[in-house]
Amino acid sequence: MAKPKVFVTRVIPEKGLALVRDFCDADIWQDELPPPHAEIVRRVRDVDSLLSLLTDKIDAEVMDAAPRLKVISNMAVGVDNVDVAAATARRLPVGNTPGVLTDATADHAFALLMSAARRIVEAEKFLRAGKWKTWSPQLLLGADFVGATLGIIGFGRIGQAVAKRAQGFDMRVIYYDPIAQPAFGASPVDLEPLLRESDFVSVHVPLTPETRHFINADTLSKMKSNAILVNTSRGPVLNQTDLYNALKSGQIFAAALDVTEPEPLPLDSPLLELDNCIIVPHIASASKHTRDMMAFMSAQNLIAGLKGEWLPNCVNPQVYKTSM
Ligand code: GLV
Repeated sequence: MAKPKVFVTRVIPEKGLALVRDFCDADIWQDELPPPHAEIVRRVRDVDSLLSLLTDKIDAEVMDAAPRLKVISNMAVGVDNVDVAAATARRLPVGNTPGVLTDATADHAFALLMSAARRIVEAEKFLRAGKWKTWSPQLLLGADFVGATLGIIGFGRIGQAVAKRAQGFDMRVIYYDPIAQPAFGASPVDLEPLLRESDFVSVHVPLTPETRHFINADTLSKMKSNAILVNTSRGPVLNQTDLYNALKSGQIFAAALDVTEPEPLPLDSPLLELDNCIIVPHIASASKHTRDMMAFMSAQNLIAGLKGEWLPNCVNPQVYKTSM
């Protein structure tokens, strides 16, 4: 019997790709850059399944171009690149990869937090520029962790894993999340006290219409002047113009971003002029093991969908109800 067809939008780690190839007749996009939207629309015409990445916009046009499509498997925990409502309306299950990237992402958020606090990137640039003349009592002074308050916005799996790490640094941890239960010694608070009291603010919310530009001039104006903001969620969760103004004017001390709007961040972005802003290219989950596991999970979701089984990780399980 012919194998089901899949379009895989990039070369993913072999741990997942081997599974996909075993089960499917796979069309794999080989370029380093993502396929243009029109190319995705063209390639899905006769596929039974789609394995996408967070760089691919999977909208109703893609779904309607693929009359045989049974499943969309996104190799990411975030699914803001997929029109999940459109998929649900078409009874298409959408898979994601939660859990396996929690620790890598929390490690990375903490690495950014520490780098910004101790001005690691700025210090390294200083050294390479030949400016290191002597040990100096006031050179590149940064922030302490012990006793400092860390405010976590969004206390899901990743937010909690960040709180767990902060415990080891003897930090006070508070969080804002209307539904999450307390864990790892962190106490729930409203948004305003979190912004007012935190020396560090780390953002861990998914991108939704409600969280778009959630961090803006208003929220930044409530933060302490020594505050350090870390974003490893999605770029559009914060308003970059407002962040630039807050960093430039000294309203907050520093920021460290793993994600930007847009991605990649154009090299003429004013944020890149600032010494108190660290920006790295969306690599929070980029450890070898984590990416292997993400590829493996997305292959498992894909194959389950093709077999007509429940996806091990499905963001729209309502598609399985007899009436929606
Ligand atoms: C990465 O950003 C992910 O959502 O997996």
